[in-house]
Amino acid sequence: IRVGIVFGGKSAEHEVSLQSAKNIIDAIDRDKYHVVLIGVDKEGSWQINDEASFLLNEQDPKAIELKKTETKIAVLPGEKQGQIYNYQTKQPLPQIDVIFPIIHGTLGEDGSIQGLLRTLNLPFVGVDLLGSAVSMDKDFAKRILRDAGINVANGLVYKKYQQAEIDFTFVQEKLGLPLFVKPVNQGSSVGVNKVETEVEFEQAIKEAFLYDDKVLIEEAIIGREIECAILGNDEPIASVPGEILPQSGFYSYESKYIDESGAKLSAPADLTNEQTKNVQEEALKVFKTLDCEGMARVDFFMKPDGTLIVNEVNTVPGFTKISMYPRLWGLSGLPYPKLIDRLIELAFE
Ligand code: DAL
Ligand code: MG
Repeated sequence: IRVGIVFGGKSAEHEVSLQSAKNIIDAIDRDKYHVVLIGVDKEGSWQINDEASFLLNEQDPKAIELKKTETKIAVLPGEKQGQIYNYQTKQPLPQIDVIFPIIHGTLGEDGSIQGLLRTLNLPFVGVDLLGSAVSMDKDFAKRILRDAGINVANGLVYKKYQQAEIDFTFVQEKLGLPLFVKPVNQGSSVGVNKVETEVEFEQAIKEAFLYDDKVLIEEAIIGREIECAILGNDEPIASVPGEILPQSGFYSYESKYIDESGAKLSAPADLTNEQTKNVQEEALKVFKTLDCEGMARVDFFMKPDGTLIVNEVNTVPGFTKISMYPRLWGLSGLPYPKLIDRLIELAFE
């Protein structure tokens, strides 16, 4: 089976994607799968095979050289499933049977690439177009979850044209303090800030608008950060839950990927059997409500009384060395290569 692994991308999580892709490439069963590397650089041009492998290792001088040459592969769907053509040369690209898209965030996790792959007649790992799009948009996801009776944090959403109307006093009266300010469509906590004062608030709003035209202001939930990994299509299963123990403020981009002492991961989370079952059932409900399939990681806050509040759903969860999704499956009896195998199998169902 020829698996095209698509990584990188134009999003703020480009580097995270490279780390995720490296781990998948290392773990995939080479007896069973032939890997075709497909890299998307930060400008959005697509590279294949050797060029893609330079991109995977951005320190490689060839990667820098490659940027200058701007080899672009625009693709055209072929007449058979899995056959795609280079738009410029009209030459067929290597036959690919299935795509494993591992681009996080914008264009990778929001339904864009999923729509492209559907147009190209290529089966792919993970959530389809609609589930990806609604899960990525924190505003839409919250509305749909709320409609299904699932708890989410209270929040207010503003579009860019409304920026001048955002009033700290009003927001603070509605949501209390501290507050979280987030771009609606982002991952890895990029552009997210926890604020206590008006000055911090104004700054955080400006920063969030750098990443998206829609900003979400949320009440801070006091509780434990519990995550659960889901795998499957019509009959999905839930992993053992894990817990994030932020050491400084919140689980920021820096504490995720830069400052290794920034957060500790505890897996399985220290929960009673009943709490574990509750997290798993709620995570499955979230997955189904948002029309997910294949995989997703559902992130919760657990209040001291045990109530679960959904923080967000990640349809292309991190596969980096510190990431919860593969770790939770490892602890649930599915080691990395088997997990990848299962994900690819699900892409064909
Ligand atoms: N958005 C990152 C990759 C995650 O949720 O794991
Ligand atoms: Mg995320």
